[in-house]
Amino acid sequence: MMRLVTLFLGGLMLAGGSWAEGSLEGDPDAGRKLAGQCRTCHGLNGIAQIPIAPNIGGESADYLARQLTAFREGTRQHEMMTVVTKMLTDQQIADVAAWFASHEVTATLSGDPSGAPELCAGCHGEDGIAVIEDAPNLAGETTIYIDTQLKAFRLGKRESDIMSGIAAELTDDEIRAAATWYESVKLESARPE
Ligand code: HEC
Ligand code: HEC
Repeated sequence: MMRLVTLFLGGLMLAGGSWAEGSLEGDPDAGRKLAGQCRTCHGLNGIAQIPIAPNIGGESADYLARQLTAFREGTRQHEMMTVVTKMLTDQQIADVAAWFASHEVTATLSGDPSGAPELCAGCHGEDGIAVIEDAPNLAGETTIYIDTQLKAFRLGKRESDIMSGIAAELTDDEIRAAATWYESVKLESARPE
């Protein structure tokens, strides 16, 4: 696994570099107004309000902008998010990403950290707060959301050089164990003063 992780990280830096070059500077205050369109599902602070939606508060602006662009371009597919992103310009994507990224999140474990899924913690953290730059947080995501994403990576409905390979190798039991662990973490999100 260590060798795999090193390989993956090598690829990641290349991918990360090319994205950063083209990305726009987002304005969190402009993004706050747009976030009114997101609140019924993601909350204004990025804590999910419905089980099929993920927490997005405190994720990096780059990650959020990348996902929103992928929904808009159709390389990541979901009925609701396709509709939401269709009308967003690149600048609006940068702004709304900056709004959710401007939050600070706190994760609280309910179990002993030794129960964390080893295969995932190297990137997503024991408590589900990511420890590498391009990975998202998993803290407090529902099992249904995690399960859906892993299957999407497996089936190629969502593309990631890193996660497609990992998801392809996972057994249903491993998926269930990882999802149950991260779902049990309590996530809070607030904007620092
Ligand atoms: C009607 C509900 C709904 C609304 C409104 C909505 N979303 Fe979503 N969003 C979802 C769902 C459901 C998903 C999970 C899609 C999937 O399974 O891939 C999602 C996924 C996302 C993701 C991917 C997060 C990740 O961790 O990969 C981002 C980013 C996102 N939404 C941002 C937004 C923003 C910004 C807005 C407002 C402009 C918004 N959403 C409005 C339901 C919604
Ligand atoms: C080498 C680092 C690495 C490892 C190990 C890893 N991941 Fe990931 N994971 C990522 C990255 C990077 C992404 C973002 C992919 C993208 O850009 O769409 C991701 C995305 C995800 C997502 C989508 C989250 C969201 O908010 O939409 C899930 C779910 C996920 N990983 C679960 C897992 C699980 C479960 C494991 C362990 C079995 C695992 N990952 C192991 C790097 C990793």
